[in-house]
Amino acid sequence: MTAATTPTGGWPVAIAGLGARLPDRVVTNDDLAEVLDTSDEWIRTRTGIRERHVAAPEEATSDLATAAARDALRDAGLAATDLAAVIVATTSPDHQVAATAPLVASALGVTAPAFDLNAACSGFVYALRVASGMVATGDGAVLVIGAETLTRIADPEDRSTAVLFGDGAGAVVLVPDDDARLGPFSLGADGEGASMLWTPSGGTRRPFDAEVLADRSHYLSMRGGDVYRNAVVRMADSAREVLAQAGLEVADVDLLVGHQANVRILDAVAARLGLPTELSHISVDRHGNTSAASIPLALADARAQGKLRDGATVLLAAFGAGLTWGACLLTWKDR
Ligand code: COA
Repeated sequence: MTAATTPTGGWPVAIAGLGARLPDRVVTNDDLAEVLDTSDEWIRTRTGIRERHVAAPEEATSDLATAAARDALRDAGLAATDLAAVIVATTSPDHQVAATAPLVASALGVTAPAFDLNAACSGFVYALRVASGMVATGDGAVLVIGAETLTRIADPEDRSTAVLFGDGAGAVVLVPDDDARLGPFSLGADGEGASMLWTPSGGTRRPFDAEVLADRSHYLSMRGGDVYRNAVVRMADSAREVLAQAGLEVADVDLLVGHQANVRILDAVAARLGLPTELSHISVDRHGNTSAASIPLALADARAQGKLRDGATVLLAAFGAGLTWGACLLTWKDR
């Protein structure tokens, strides 16, 4: 990349390590069709999903997060004691209280500051924004994990949501690096649209009780069509916004790693941006929608396929419950 197209407005921060953890058990569309009134054909044509990984009964979000974190630390050649902070982006924490990140930090053997960030499927991009500011202002290395056990909060009897989600975790270690750029970022939120995608009950608005159990409103509920339309517009608009901030064109993007909710959404975002679909990485076909974990898992998947070459300009874009959305640029550096 020439100096003229170097992204401006971002932080001098690099991804020093990237890690992933997918549960061992793979559930195919045909497996789901044995227990739900659905079919491989319906799921594939509507979403592009073929299979997803599902956590074992004894596995929770912090277990997946810890495994991904260890993988990322190994990749970075760093020890957990080198970390200044641990951030877990999740909307399916182990417990309502306490947060998941301290459990992860503890499993890694450190008492560094650790906190959760909930921006649902946009959580990883939000967490990168928070962490990059911390790294750039002198905190040191920060571990950012996107981790979810979404199959626990989706209603296994509701075919309109149960087929969409999967479990997993991805992690990055961010370090200061004057030759690298993370950002600029464009983030947004609109709470007026919260009911498009939420768990109606089980929080402080309507606490869990026998009635909630009976009407199953502690599970995820979604207006799929509304979410779909909003996701396409918000992801494309925030992607354009960061490109404009950086003084880059769509043609400067080497790889789009969008939130992996649905292949049709990702194709529509690429089309709106005028980006060839082959430059949009797809892992939702094998992972399902893993919410905050989807982008770091997709990054790890893209690297395994040789798509992250040194110096590549990578565009991340996400949309999720909240509603929340966001995009950012990063320059990939082989280390
Ligand atoms: N198998 C078979 N049929 C199903 C089904 C399933 N798993 N889920 C829903 N259907 C049925 C519906 O009941 C409906 O039947 P009806 O017409 O008799 O009422 C029919 O399929 C069409 O449903 P519709 O909602 O119009 O389908 P769609 O083409 O909009 O696709 C989604 C549904 C969920 C795939 C799509 O709206 C979507 O991807 N939305 C975004 C979801 C998402 O990504 N959420 C997370 C974002 S972070």
